[in-house]
Amino acid sequence: MRRVADDTRGAPLLEIADLRIGFGDKQREAVAVVRGVSLRLERGRILGLVGESGSGKSLTCRAIMRLLPEAGHVLSGRISFDGRNVLELDRPDLLAFRSTEVGMIFQDPFSSLNPTRRIGSQMVEALRLALRLPDRGATKRAIELLAEVDIPDPAAKLRMYPHELSGGMRQRVMLAIAMGAKPRLLIADEPTTALDTTTQAQILQLLRRVKDDTESSILLVSHDFGVIAEMCDDVAVMYDGYVVESGPVEEVYLRPQHPYTRALIAAVPTLTVPERGYRRPTIPGPPLGTTRYDGGCPFTPRCAFARPECRNVSMTLLPVGPAHTSACPFEGSHR
Ligand SMILES: Nc1ncnc2c1ncn2[C@@H]1O[C@H](COP(=O)(O)OP(=O)(O)OP(=O)(O)O)[C@@H](O)[C@H]1O
Ligand SMILES: [Mg+2]
Repeated sequence: MRRVADDTRGAPLLEIADLRIGFGDKQREAVAVVRGVSLRLERGRILGLVGESGSGKSLTCRAIMRLLPEAGHVLSGRISFDGRNVLELDRPDLLAFRSTEVGMIFQDPFSSLNPTRRIGSQMVEALRLALRLPDRGATKRAIELLAEVDIPDPAAKLRMYPHELSGGMRQRVMLAIAMGAKPRLLIADEPTTALDTTTQAQILQLLRRVKDDTESSILLVSHDFGVIAEMCDDVAVMYDGYVVESGPVEEVYLRPQHPYTRALIAAVPTLTVPERGYRRPTIPGPPLGTTRYDGGCPFTPRCAFARPECRNVSMTLLPVGPAHTSACPFEGSHR
């Protein structure tokens, strides 16, 4: 776990306030799936976004890029990047924002690398657009970038197709493309989930090195609190469309306040070899999205500390410590 730097906290690079995203043909009839996301990413830091499948992590990332899937709408809220409202950027500013200020890598590099085109032509095109380089300059820069992400024999790799590279190598290529324009923000949406443990560790280490070299900030999505604890300075925990807890990662990890965060941390596998019969702890109760609830806290059906008042909880993040907030108002009820 990284020690939280005692820095002077200026204006954040990225700030999201009360973001709601819904799906529907018409915006006003859309049903919200992201229902209340507020987070801050300070300059030069790594913010983790953690939560189980379907909690709204990827939609939140895509909203920052203004790349929601079809029929997805931002219903309300604010996304500011370096003081500018991302949701109000006009087309030219949005394109510039996407190509030079933010880079993004995804869980599955196949979704963003074109399988029918060589690595080189894809990199050159991306670099030409982002850096306005001529072809020769872009090729030279592509080779340098591949070397920076530790890809051996980079010139030869430019002639290859994505399927000729291993999963880890493809993720390095994606990182090289994303970092090509030296973006101030890198969004990494489950970049290592599809990789084996050793490759995952290498990619995470590389991510941190690239961040330090370029002085960028990272929004790192994972469903694994272990990865978040290892990599991040701060964390926002999501459940069913809400941020339910946020704060410095050490503080949240050592003193989790929301019962969902506690359950998530209890589910982190230990590094010791499991004894015979050991079972990885899981969060009890029906999985997300399988039960209806009448409002209030969506974790209620699975919460070991649920009480009737949980139906009236507003899901507002309340201060529980220095820079540490939780949406569960029942302090001390779950210790
Ligand atoms: N294209 C879509 N159309 C309709 N609903 C969608 C669409 N994409 C996502 N959703 C809804 O939004 C919810 C949140 O999706 P999102 O992809 O952000 O989850 P996630 O936290 O990234 O999950 P995972 O860990 O599986 O990647 C989903 O459970 C789904 O109900
Ligand atoms: Mg996702």
